[in-house]
Amino acid sequence: MLNEEAGASSQRKSLHGNWTSRLAFILAVTGSAVGLGNIWKFPYIAGQNGGGAFVIVYLFCVVLIGMPVMMSEILIGRRGRRNPIATMKLLGEEEGGSGHWQLVGGMGVLAGVLILSYYGVIAAWVVAYVQKSFSGVFAGASAGEVQAIFDSFTGDWIAVTGVFTLFMATTVWVVARGVERGLEAAVRFMVPALLLLLLALLGYSINSGSFGAGVAFMFTPDFSALTWNSILVAMGQAFFTLSIGMGAVMAYGAYLPQETSITSATSAVVVADTGIAILAGMVIFPLVFANGLDPASGPGLVFVTLPLAFGQMTGGVVFSSIFFVLLAFAAWTSAIALMEPAVAWVVEKFHESRARAAILVGGITWILGFGTVFSFNLLADVKFLSGTIFSNVDYITSNIMLPLGGLLITVFAGWVMCRNSTAEELGGAGASYRAWRLLARFIAPIAILFVFLSAIGVIDLTGK
Ligand code: PFF
Repeated sequence: MLNEEAGASSQRKSLHGNWTSRLAFILAVTGSAVGLGNIWKFPYIAGQNGGGAFVIVYLFCVVLIGMPVMMSEILIGRRGRRNPIATMKLLGEEEGGSGHWQLVGGMGVLAGVLILSYYGVIAAWVVAYVQKSFSGVFAGASAGEVQAIFDSFTGDWIAVTGVFTLFMATTVWVVARGVERGLEAAVRFMVPALLLLLLALLGYSINSGSFGAGVAFMFTPDFSALTWNSILVAMGQAFFTLSIGMGAVMAYGAYLPQETSITSATSAVVVADTGIAILAGMVIFPLVFANGLDPASGPGLVFVTLPLAFGQMTGGVVFSSIFFVLLAFAAWTSAIALMEPAVAWVVEKFHESRARAAILVGGITWILGFGTVFSFNLLADVKFLSGTIFSNVDYITSNIMLPLGGLLITVFAGWVMCRNSTAEELGGAGASYRAWRLLARFIAPIAILFVFLSAIGVIDLTGK
C-alpha cells in the first residue's frame, strides 16, 4: 500500500526537532556508542574469551556487520523521521512491504528498556565509585581490600538502589528536557575529555612493567580459545558497543539534517568507538597483569582492577575520581540514547508530553532494574540459563535481541526498500553505496544468521 506521503520523504519533519549540525549528530551518536560497553564490558568479555582471537573476531564484526547495520538504521530513521515503531510501519507500507515491520521497531524499544534496566545499575556502581575514589579508600589498598569494597557495595541492595534511583532520575530529567539541548553540550565536552584521560592512563600502563604482557594478551590470537559462543559474544558486543540493532541510532537518525552524509558520519563514530574500546583494553590488561589479577574475572574487572592500580599511583585519588566521573558521563549519554526510542514512541503514540513520557519509561525501567540490583545480593544464588538475572538480561538483549533486530533492519534496508530510496539517503549510487549494499544485502545478514543459528545450538547443548 502506498502511503500518501510517498515521494515526499525529504519534506518530513521530526516532531522532536533536529540536531543543530553534522558534528552534533556525530557527537550524539558517539556519546551513545561510547559508554560502559567500551570501558567496562569490552575488556572483561575479551578477558573471559581468551583475548587476541576474540578481539580479531570483534573487529571483523564491527566492520562487516556493525557499519552496514548502523548505516541502515540511520537511513531508515531519517527517511521516516518518527520513532522506530512508527518509522518501520510507515516505510514498510510505503516501500511496498508490510506494516508488520513495526514489530522490529517494537523489539528495539523493548530491548532499549531492558538494557537500560541493567545499564543503569552498573552506571550506579560507577557513580558510587566517584564518591569512593574521592574519599581515598583505594589509596594503598591491597587487591583483597579493593575486592571487599566492591563486594560489600554491590552486595548492599539498599545503597545500590539509592544511587540507581538518582542515576535514573537524572536520565529522565535530561530526556524530558529534550535530547538536543542537554546532550549536545555534554558530549562536546565528554568525548574529547574521556579520550585525553584514557591516553594519560595509557602512559601509566606503559610504565607499569606489564604492558607487554597486557598487549600480548589482547593482540596475540589464540584461536583454540574461541568457541561458537565467544563468536556470538563478539558479535553481540559489536552491536552493543555501537548502540545498534535496537532503534536508538534510528531514533537519532530521525533528527538528522537531510544534507549530512550518513556514510562519513558512521565511519567517524565507528572509528571513535572502536579506538576507545581498544584503548581501554590497553590500559586495563597491563594493570591486571602487573597486579597479578585474573583477566577473566568478569564484570568486576574495572571496579576492582583500576581502583587497585590507582591506589598505587601518585595522585591516584584525583585520577581515579576523574576517571569515574567521566565514565559516569559516558554511561549517562548512553542511557539517554537507550531511553529515546521508547520515549519518542510514547510521545507520538499517546500524544504525551516528553516529561510524562520520560517519567513513565524511566519508572518502568527502574522497576525492571531490581532484577539486576538483586543479582548481586538477595538473588545472587538464583541462576538459570546463562547465570543470574543480570547475566540473562544482558545475554538475551546483547546476543539475541540486538543481532536479530540488526538482521531484520539490514534485510529491510537492503531488500525491502527500493534502490532509489536507499541511494537517495546514502548520497547516490557510487562505490561506497555499492559496498554498503553488498554488505547489507548479503554479507551482514548471512553472517548474523549463521552465528546466531549456531549459537542457539550452543545454548541448547551446554545449557548456557
Ligand atoms: N553503546 C553503549 C555502550 O557501549 O556502553 C550501550 C548502548 C547505548 C547500547 C545505547 C544501545 C543504546 F541504544
